[in-house]
Amino acid sequence: METIKIDLGKRSYGICVGRGLIAKEDIFSNYICNKNIAIITNETVAPLYLDKLKESFSGAKSIIDIILHDGEEYKNQDSLDTIYESLLKNKFGRDSILIALGGGVIGDITGYAGATYMRGIDFIQVPTTLLSQVDSSVGGKTGINHKLGKNMIGAFYQPKLVAIDVDCLVTLPDKELSAGLAEVIKYGLIRDSIFFEWLEENMNSLLSKDSDSLVEAIIRSCKNKASVVAEDEFESEKGIRATLNLGHTFGHAIETAVGYGNWLHGEAVAVGMIMASKMSMHMGYIQDKDYARIKNIIKTANLPLNPPDISQAQFLDLMASDKKNKDGKINLILLRSLGEAFQTKDYEMKMLEATLKTKIF
Ligand SMILES: NC(=O)c1ccc[n+]([C@@H]2O[C@H](COP(=O)([O-])OP(=O)(O)OC[C@H]3O[C@@H](n4cnc5c(N)ncnc54)[C@H](O)[C@@H]3O)[C@@H](O)[C@H]2O)c1
Ligand SMILES: [Zn+2]
Repeated sequence: METIKIDLGKRSYGICVGRGLIAKEDIFSNYICNKNIAIITNETVAPLYLDKLKESFSGAKSIIDIILHDGEEYKNQDSLDTIYESLLKNKFGRDSILIALGGGVIGDITGYAGATYMRGIDFIQVPTTLLSQVDSSVGGKTGINHKLGKNMIGAFYQPKLVAIDVDCLVTLPDKELSAGLAEVIKYGLIRDSIFFEWLEENMNSLLSKDSDSLVEAIIRSCKNKASVVAEDEFESEKGIRATLNLGHTFGHAIETAVGYGNWLHGEAVAVGMIMASKMSMHMGYIQDKDYARIKNIIKTANLPLNPPDISQAQFLDLMASDKKNKDGKINLILLRSLGEAFQTKDYEMKMLEATLKTKIF
């Protein structure tokens, strides 16, 4: 097992990565000893991992589980109320602790429940999808969706511990694995060209769920995310944390246009990264051969390359309503080189329009 420290002063915590962690009592014992524990999970993950995780909590005062429906559409106020109600009925006080067992949906909602119940109680992330292991469980963004917008209600609230058990990925559907790989590839593109090369060489073992390769990719991704977050915890104007959104402005437009649930987030981000790379190439930042490598790795990861049929006007409209925009001009994350990203509004509109108009292949 390896532990990565995320350095945030008093809010620092460890990210443990390894095999079989959910059955390792000693990882959790310091946090749960004599406490009331609520494990929040969903109806898909519960039958797979809930009992095993509970066995590691023998030192707890009491344990309840809260099993939510599965799906992005349940990342809402109703599910949050279900959590609050269980905690209140069971007389959970400020010293109780929440455990998020599941993908990013469960992690985001549990974190937000932790941030708000009795003005804040501790929580631990036990992410079980690749996307949540390399991205959503690390960095403290928590929240729920509102009917008028995704992730619109939320808080920055850091967990006490992230325990990443790579063995949970055994049951993850291949499509979800690929979606997680999009975010893994993103770290290579925005700040770690050596990791990008490693991914080019090891993509097939990752797709076959080789444990050693997965451990390596997750550690490297979490290290990258941990240093970005340590530098810019609250996504300041400096734009360091914003580079984690490479491909996301294009990707969010795709997700909204096709309707949530029709494309996985990671699939939309993969296409978004290709579009951002294409624009970076047209602006003279990255070279043609880099762009070819980017398309190639995304294709090898079984991710889509082309956006769905969205008109240029609709694309622009959806991108302009992305919450990260300031002063009316669409903020973009582009690549200065393969391995270095930057945030900018300094581009000619016709460059963006050309990117939106043409198909990739
Ligand atoms: N907080 C952040 O910084 C951040 C970053 C990225 C994404 N997110 C959020 O994360 C969410 C997406 O997360 P996700 O991709 O993990 O989706 P998800 O939580 O919906 O999980 C995907 C599917 O896999 C199932 N699943 C989970 N673990 C499994 C396992 N081990 N075996 C079999 N099935 C399993 C889930 O039940 C679900 O059906 C979105 O809501 C997004 O907004 C948050
Ligand atoms: Zn993402």
